[in-house]
Amino acid sequence: MWREVELSEDGTVLRLHDGAPDARFHAVWLRDNALDPATRDAGNGQRLITLADILADLSISAARIGEGQLHVTFGPDGKACAWPLRWLHDHVYDRDDQPETGHLPAHATTWDSALNTAIPTGDLGQLQTYETARRDWLAAIRRYGFAKVTGMTPREGGLFDIVDLFGYVRETNYGRLFEVRTEVNPVNLAYTGLGLQAHTDNPYRDPVPTLQVLACLENSAKGGENMVVDGFAAALRLRGENPRGFALLAGYPMRFSYSGSAGVALQSRRPIIDLSPDGQLQCIRFNARSAAPCIDVPFADMADWYTAYRRLSDIIDDTAMEVQFKLSPGEAFIVDNTRVLHARKGYSGAGNRWLQGCYADKDGLLSTLVSLEASHA
Ligand code: FE2
Repeated sequence: MWREVELSEDGTVLRLHDGAPDARFHAVWLRDNALDPATRDAGNGQRLITLADILADLSISAARIGEGQLHVTFGPDGKACAWPLRWLHDHVYDRDDQPETGHLPAHATTWDSALNTAIPTGDLGQLQTYETARRDWLAAIRRYGFAKVTGMTPREGGLFDIVDLFGYVRETNYGRLFEVRTEVNPVNLAYTGLGLQAHTDNPYRDPVPTLQVLACLENSAKGGENMVVDGFAAALRLRGENPRGFALLAGYPMRFSYSGSAGVALQSRRPIIDLSPDGQLQCIRFNARSAAPCIDVPFADMADWYTAYRRLSDIIDDTAMEVQFKLSPGEAFIVDNTRVLHARKGYSGAGNRWLQGCYADKDGLLSTLVSLEASHA
C-alpha cells in the first residue's frame, strides 16, 4: 500500500505513490467523498452535503499517511478528513486504459451453445431454504443472463415464488402475469402456436422490463421447445465481423411500437445495441414483431445499417449461439431481458402448452445478490 503522498503546487491534486501504483485524486473529489459523519450519515451512509457545501476555492493545505489512512486538511476552511488507504485503493479513478467499445458489464461472461451441457439451474425448495444456494443462482443470472428453476409445483401464479426470491413483479398492460397459450384472436403472436424468432421482450417500453420469468404448467404438445441466445455474444460477434455495423446499430435509435389492444399505444426510440457513455454493453433490443419503421438513420447510412441489422439477425438465428431446453410442468426459466433473447419453436397437434409469464426488475435482483454476497462472503 502507498507510503508517500505529494501535493500539486496549487493544492488541487494529491498523488499517492511508493508501495502501490501511483494514483492521483482531486481535492474536490476527496472533499465530496469524505467519510466523516458530517459528510456521510453514519447510519444509512447517505451524503449529508450538496455540492454547494464544497468551497469553490477548495484546495489541500496538508496531507500525510499514517495509521493506514490518508489524512488531509483542506483550505481555506481547515476541515480535516481521513480515508482508509484500502478504501482509496478500491476507488482509484486515475487510469490510463480506456475501456474498449462493447466491453461487458462486471461479472458477465458470454456464452454459446456449449452452455447446453451446463445450464444454470436451481431447485426452488433449495433456493427458498438456503441463502447460499440463492446467492449462487442469482450470481449465475448475473453472469449468464438466464437460469432455470426446477422443483416447482405446477400451479397458477406459481411463478411469483421465483420473483419472491429476489424482488418484485413489474406489472404491465398484460397484467401482473400473462398467459402464454394458444388463443383465438390473440392480442399478441406469443399467444399462438407459431414459432417465434429469438427476441427480447417489449422493446416498445422505456425502460424495458429487465427480467422475464416463464413458468410451465403444461407442455404435452409436440414442439414448443424454448431457446435462449446471448445477445451480448451476438453483438460482439457482429463487432468482430463488422465494427462499423456494430457502431451503426449502437449509434442510431431504432423505433419499436405495440398497439395490439385497445387503449395501448406503446412506443420507444432506442438503439438495438445500447452502450453506456464509456462503451459498456447495456441493453440489446431485438424483436421483429414490434420493430417500427426506422426513420432516425440518415439516408447515407441506411443501407449499411440494414446490412448490420440483417447480419445481427443471422447471428441470432445461428444454432451455434443457442441453448435449448423443453420445460416440463414445474419448471421455469428467468432471463435478463436487457441481454438474453428467448425464442420458442412452433407447436401443434394433440396436447397442450401452457406457460405463465411475468416481469420483474434486475436492479432488485442485483441488490439481493450483493447483499447475500456481503453476508456470505
Ligand atoms: Fe417473448
